[in-house]
Amino acid sequence: MVGQIIGGSYGEILIRQKSEEVIELGDLLVADDILLQIYDMEYGSLLQPSDLARMSGLQLEGYGTTEIHEKDVRNYILLRAKPLFNLKTKSIPKTLPRFFHILRRASAQDFEFLEKPQNAIYLGKIRSGSKILAVPVYIDGKNALTHHILIPATTGRGKSNLVKVILWNLIGKGYAGILVLDAHNEYYSYMKNGKKYGLKYHPDAGKNVIYYTSSPAPGERGLRINIKNVRPWHLREIVEFTSAQEDALYLFHKEYRERWIEHLLLAQEGMSGVRVETLASLQRKIKVALELDVNSHGEIYERGTIFSVSEGERTIADICDYLENGKIVILDTSSLSQEIELLVSGMIMSEMFSRYKRYKEQGVLEDKPVVSVVIEEAPRVLGEGKSNIFGTIAREGRKFHIGIIAITQLSSMIPREILANLNTKIILGNEMSSERNAIIGSAAQDLSKDDKMIASLDRGEAIVSSIFTKFAIPLQIDSFETLVDKSREKRKKRDTLMLFG
Ligand SMILES: Nc1ncnc2c1ncn2[C@@H]1O[C@H](COP(=O)(O)OP(=O)(O)OP(=O)(O)O)[C@@H](O)[C@H]1O
Ligand SMILES: [Mg+2]
Repeated sequence: MVGQIIGGSYGEILIRQKSEEVIELGDLLVADDILLQIYDMEYGSLLQPSDLARMSGLQLEGYGTTEIHEKDVRNYILLRAKPLFNLKTKSIPKTLPRFFHILRRASAQDFEFLEKPQNAIYLGKIRSGSKILAVPVYIDGKNALTHHILIPATTGRGKSNLVKVILWNLIGKGYAGILVLDAHNEYYSYMKNGKKYGLKYHPDAGKNVIYYTSSPAPGERGLRINIKNVRPWHLREIVEFTSAQEDALYLFHKEYRERWIEHLLLAQEGMSGVRVETLASLQRKIKVALELDVNSHGEIYERGTIFSVSEGERTIADICDYLENGKIVILDTSSLSQEIELLVSGMIMSEMFSRYKRYKEQGVLEDKPVVSVVIEEAPRVLGEGKSNIFGTIAREGRKFHIGIIAITQLSSMIPREILANLNTKIILGNEMSSERNAIIGSAAQDLSKDDKMIASLDRGEAIVSSIFTKFAIPLQIDSFETLVDKSREKRKKRDTLMLFG
């Protein structure tokens, strides 16, 4: 027994805490089969405020202390709880638990009804306040991925760790191809405390985790893309063109197809209908965007590492092939400018989108793995006024089994309509109330009382609100590094066993 219901209303049940119990924000309690969660707390006293102030005054000013009789009866902590779930009917509670009911803490047995969904993605364990219950939390992978995932939190709360945990569990499953735009080069391989970590060290990484980088070590894939793969609509997503320039882009593309950039950069004077000034500024913009230039012999040369005149004709197609075979493809974009990162990822996702659109028309989409793309600092592409392939995916990708895993510190910069479309939110700690409001306002469950809880979430503590979970589940996310360590130990044990029979 930890407390007793002494009043309140449906979403705001008042509980008197038993004096020696320590109850935290976010704690899960059970009353009458109804799972309750503590979202606020305050002091309560049977004494008049003026009496309390007088007694305190006597004590503070050195007139001696007045002992309060039956102190733990007269002074107490008042908890506010909201109903989360009816454990018996397995639905949202529609009744109040009995008045004056005595509460107990929730335990692992209370959650035996939670089933492991198909293609389960493991997220972590159920959390009551900051205590972990031995109940794994899963979401249905195919559904969650195609209906988009938002991971909002302040910096350092564990967004990247969570994505690594999700991806680790997807490796080798084959039902999802994931493109990771890794702006910090932190997913594939990194050092911590003298040890190597990253998705590279998964036992099945060999064939299932594909890594591209602009500075490849021997044996690694270089991220090189041939300019023949660039289309006018790819460039439009990162460069602002005047309408005259746009007309010229499409004109060149129509005339020269995949050699259009070459012809455009080398064109001396305007093609029919393209003015000289238009051409000149277009050439300048494209040279900047693709990091190219033309030398005095009239040859195009590369100033950057990504766009190439001679290599990389298959890169985009290869990446899309990997994705539609259920692999994890990590692009190290740490040395790329933001524009080039968006251009490259836009090219890949546009190709993926048109492939999957075609598969749907052909009626073979169901046989293909779902595809998702991980984007850090998502407002860069999903922000107000942006029009690009990522917005299209957020709005209609689910019809074609393509989703987004959007990571952000600034959910408020993403338009509400898109936020509402990101149907699974794995909410980590956030100190900014404007951010919490944006997240709470677009969640799948009613989180209107969760403001203080979200503000108080520690590293790795989260709340999953999803159209694919029965209620907003509080959980503790595993540490990725612990996961890798455990997998190494397991392999070591197995190897030793094999060695000694
Ligand atoms: N669930 C967890 N358990 C234990 N440690 C964690 C957990 N989540 C994150 N950490 C640790 O906290 C630190 C920050 O985590 P992480 O890099 O994932 O944060 P982030 O939200 O991605 O931050 P940023 O906004 O800077 O990218 C890392 O050292 C990570 O190992
Ligand atoms: Mg991060």
